Amino acid sequence: MKRLLSGITPSGDGSLHIGNYLGAVKQFTELAKTHECFLMVADLHALTTIQDKALLQKNTETLILYELALLGDLKNITFFRQSDVPMHAELQSILNNVTPLGLLKRAHAYKDKLARDVMEDDVNVGLFSYPMLMAADILLYKPDLVPVGKDQKQHVEITRDIAGRFNKIFSPVFKLPEPYIPEEVAVVLGTDGKRKMSKSLGNIISIFDDEEIIKKQVMGTYTDPQRIHANDPGHIEGNMVFTYLEFFGERGKTDELKKAYTEGKVSDIEVKNYLYDRLMKTFAPARKVYEELKRNPEKVKKILQDGAEKTHTVASQTMKEVRDATGITNQYSFFQYGLSHSPSDVQGLALISIDEFSRVEMRVGKVVEATYPEKSEKLIRLVVDLGDEKRVIFTGVRTLGYTIDDFLDKQFFFVTNLAPRKMMNEESQGMILAVDGADKPLFLSAEGMPLGAKIR
Ligand code: TYM
Repeated sequence: MKRLLSGITPSGDGSLHIGNYLGAVKQFTELAKTHECFLMVADLHALTTIQDKALLQKNTETLILYELALLGDLKNITFFRQSDVPMHAELQSILNNVTPLGLLKRAHAYKDKLARDVMEDDVNVGLFSYPMLMAADILLYKPDLVPVGKDQKQHVEITRDIAGRFNKIFSPVFKLPEPYIPEEVAVVLGTDGKRKMSKSLGNIISIFDDEEIIKKQVMGTYTDPQRIHANDPGHIEGNMVFTYLEFFGERGKTDELKKAYTEGKVSDIEVKNYLYDRLMKTFAPARKVYEELKRNPEKVKKILQDGAEKTHTVASQTMKEVRDATGITNQYSFFQYGLSHSPSDVQGLALISIDEFSRVEMRVGKVVEATYPEKSEKLIRLVVDLGDEKRVIFTGVRTLGYTIDDFLDKQFFFVTNLAPRKMMNEESQGMILAVDGADKPLFLSAEGMPLGAKIR
């Protein structure tokens, strides 16, 4: 399966507009049917413009929820937050050294900034080196393609350039990525009909705002300035309401309205009302999922945790290759990707922080069913009552002399937030805890303790 990577920055207020949707998120959902997708919330990028703790936190949280709500099914999608993967910053710092200044000086974001209000000496270095962080974002995952809007095309080209230089100077570690920019959504124009839809230009139609706000945005959309009365023949070209209807309207109805509009048989208001209704209908499921996710922070955390774990594996592998290729790794290297890192690891035991430990959830459960699965000589299948739910948990202890009677109707401690593991065509949803005994493990009895109670 081919791989893609893309990202959205929680700049502005972290909200998404239909330009982001058509130019980015919709592409992701389509491509996810046939590609392995890595999608990131690029919070480190947002620091170039947002330097306010509360605001950055809020924007990032908002974007995470909005994007997840729009993506829906995460099959084939690894969704993660850039700052959860420190390798991005490390690779950026290494790529600095193979990137000529001139390349970055030609970058649009930097040039636009200078063209506006800022003196060159005042441009923050983060903004200047933004394309390099984006190159790191991309190259870490060796994607085949990078779906973006046209405004990001140059960044992907810079990435190719940087990757080529690195490969030539050291050794061919990186894959040169291809931008993927479908022509019809390369630039979605804003409601002013002139410039790219962008929060900072105030020409957006948002997806998750209150209905009145969206209605106002739709009603303010540029149509045909020459048309004064509803019975004047109107123009379709450059008329943003019809541009958006190409994506959100029903084919037949849109064609009907187009005809009526050019014949002066339908008012602007009617067409705009139709667009508004279609937008509401299109995004109703996502708006509902958003409300659900907002009520379930644990679910969101879990998605991001899974995403971070998966991305760490991929990014560590690339960083290992980068460190090897550049000569950073040598015979005295202490830190090496893929090996354990803390001093006590050297003796074979990892030091972890209390925060890391508290991510392990251990709960009291009662075994209400214990059976020997067919075709296994090792496993016992337990159904465990955790008070609020029942879980299937397999344990491979039969060969150690344990039988179902050792478990049935007894209470033990279980780890309950492990990623499910497929066993005997079923998912094992946890692990029973044991301590080492003289000749076999001994299970930790939790008799008399409340079902579902967590170890603190
Ligand atoms: P950002 O957050 O500005 O925009 C996210 C995506 O939406 C696209 N887009 C549009 N497409 C068409 N018409 C529009 N009016 C429109 N507005 C936004 C953007 O082109 C983009 O694809 N630097 C990136 C985020 C990023 C990234 C990456 C992307 C960080 N690392 C690695 C790809 C790969 C950005 O700020 O996009």
